[in-house]
Amino acid sequence: MRLTSGNLVWLKVALHLLCLLPLMYLVLLVLTDNAGGDPVQYIIHYTGMGAINALIVTLLVSPLAKRFKQGLLLQTRRLLGLYVLAYAMLHLSAFISLDLLFAWELLFEEILKRPYILVGASCLVLLLVLGLTSFQRVKRNMGKRWQLLHNWVYLAAVLAPIHFYWSVKSEIIEPGIYLLIFASLLLLRRKALTKHLRLS
Ligand code: HEM
Repeated sequence: MRLTSGNLVWLKVALHLLCLLPLMYLVLLVLTDNAGGDPVQYIIHYTGMGAINALIVTLLVSPLAKRFKQGLLLQTRRLLGLYVLAYAMLHLSAFISLDLLFAWELLFEEILKRPYILVGASCLVLLLVLGLTSFQRVKRNMGKRWQLLHNWVYLAAVLAPIHFYWSVKSEIIEPGIYLLIFASLLLLRRKALTKHLRLS
């Protein structure tokens, strides 16, 4: 079955719901006092996992579109990518507001004390640049440079699982699985990746 523009609209609606429902669920958990013994850690964990899971789904779109010859599927990448950014921004906001209580000087101390935060911040800066340049008008103006810039999502796909792996204190199985998932996703794109490295 070929995806038509009519189906695409419904697929986008479903993806919006898929990305928004977990957020509504988080709000419900917090409001009903069901966000664990340490709600601040819970919210940071939840939004971090939301960002990394959304990044996996975003990176899955191209290989799936290619495998099943569904070119229109590529049009869902921007929507999903912006949700990655939204979850990552919420994750950072939760850290700064709920954990550091807006003590900005502590943010720099934390970065020096916990280098995994610097890795997460670098990933977020990349996501922000990609999000800000994701508009059609910017894409048109940038021409070929747009694709080169957007290939930096590969670096985000390296940094995000490293940040996760490094941030956990004891449990290594789950972040290890995420490292493997991202390595496989990058392996699937090795051709585009080597081309990008040759061009830049
Ligand atoms: C400035 C940017 C960022 C900051 C300051 C930050 C900060 C943190 C902190 C404080 C933790 C909790 C570590 C702990 O349990 O003590 C964490 C965990 C995590 N972060 Fe980030 N992060 C940032 C960016 C990102 C980005 C861009 C992603 C994903 C795309 C991400 C995904 C995660 C994940 C998956 C975890 C593990 C969740 C857990 O097991 O608790 N973070 N981050």
